[in-house]
Amino acid sequence: MTTFQTPTAADTRADDRLSAMDRYRHVRRHSEELAAPLPAEDQVIQPMPDASPTKWHLAHTAWFFETFLLAPFLPGYRRYHPLFGTLFNSYYEAVGPRHPRPQRGMLGRPTVAETMLYRGTIDRAMEDLVLGASDGVWHRIEPVLALGLNHEQQHQELILTDIKYTLFCNPLRPPYRPDPPPAGPSRTAPLEWIDVAGGVAAIGHAGPGFAFDNEGPRHEVLLRPFRLASRLVSNAEYLGFMADGGYTNPRHWFADGWAMVQEQGWQAPLYWEQSADGSWSSFTLSGMCPLDPDSPVSHVSFYEASAYATWAGKRLPSEAEWEAAAAGGTGELWEWTASPYVAYPGYRPPEGAVGEYNGKFMVNQMVLRGGSCATPPGHIRRTYRNFFYPSARWQFSGLRLVEDR
Ligand SMILES: [Fe+2]
Repeated sequence: MTTFQTPTAADTRADDRLSAMDRYRHVRRHSEELAAPLPAEDQVIQPMPDASPTKWHLAHTAWFFETFLLAPFLPGYRRYHPLFGTLFNSYYEAVGPRHPRPQRGMLGRPTVAETMLYRGTIDRAMEDLVLGASDGVWHRIEPVLALGLNHEQQHQELILTDIKYTLFCNPLRPPYRPDPPPAGPSRTAPLEWIDVAGGVAAIGHAGPGFAFDNEGPRHEVLLRPFRLASRLVSNAEYLGFMADGGYTNPRHWFADGWAMVQEQGWQAPLYWEQSADGSWSSFTLSGMCPLDPDSPVSHVSFYEASAYATWAGKRLPSEAEWEAAAAGGTGELWEWTASPYVAYPGYRPPEGAVGEYNGKFMVNQMVLRGGSCATPPGHIRRTYRNFFYPSARWQFSGLRLVEDR
């Protein structure tokens, strides 16, 4: 006969640690699964300063745990390598010097295999730390562990966006995955306009569960009544903009955007190519594919998104409108908003080096909401604030329109 005993406080604490380690292993394994289809030669390439090599992502995410958890909290821990702190520090001024970002692709060493050994050593030390920490230490490291895992998930998306750009730069156009994209009809749903009442709305994260510091404090905003499109702008609709001189007429563009069109020679979204017969194809993680007119237009910059919206006689939503309307969680593409990435009222960066995670980037970038096909499952939140420079096109970014009522 089985007898049941009430769990003690110590049992509960042990369960917390074990479930944290389960989650740690799951997240870490997923990064390695994303890299697995790639030969080592692909994993070291940096095709532009914004896109880091796969190998660097794998090492940097290990560095994060080593720097913010193992070095300060695991008794007797010795750094894996005296220079890895410099090679794999991304942007933390408080932590020390950094290898220049545009030169990450110059690092043939550590090799991919050596990088995996580094990850394995970090993983074993993390297990020692999490399972062996005193209650007092566990209380301090638990939020940093959650941050480190969410950080690694952000880099999982970057592994995909960056390798897509890398492979596109190769004239052979090798696919990341050999399997073809999902076949079958993907008919564009009819566009509907969802009425959203104006008034005072609360946005931002509050309450339990993980959120990045930039998602709070929760606060009230005043919205005018508006209508939100029920879906994203499609490729067919975007082709209409192009056919109407979208890239040749400055009328719909911000001055900075129009300057980018001239400077970069933009004539279509990133990854689009036109054949001699006029048909379009686009590069995907499965290689070059005929453009699906019914899919949402992707890999557009903020400048292109806003030019399209102006051409269509609409506008982009503010991030407050987007969140209040709960458009979110579609997971198709990140959706450009009209909102600059700035601090919410009352925001204070956390103390210490991790205060550099978000706060120092709150200028000159635009907010994207939602999540994309490359975002790891469970990493999307209604309050999530992604942000990129308005000229960025290599992320999985699209747009949804709004109109005033
Ligand atoms: Fe990072």
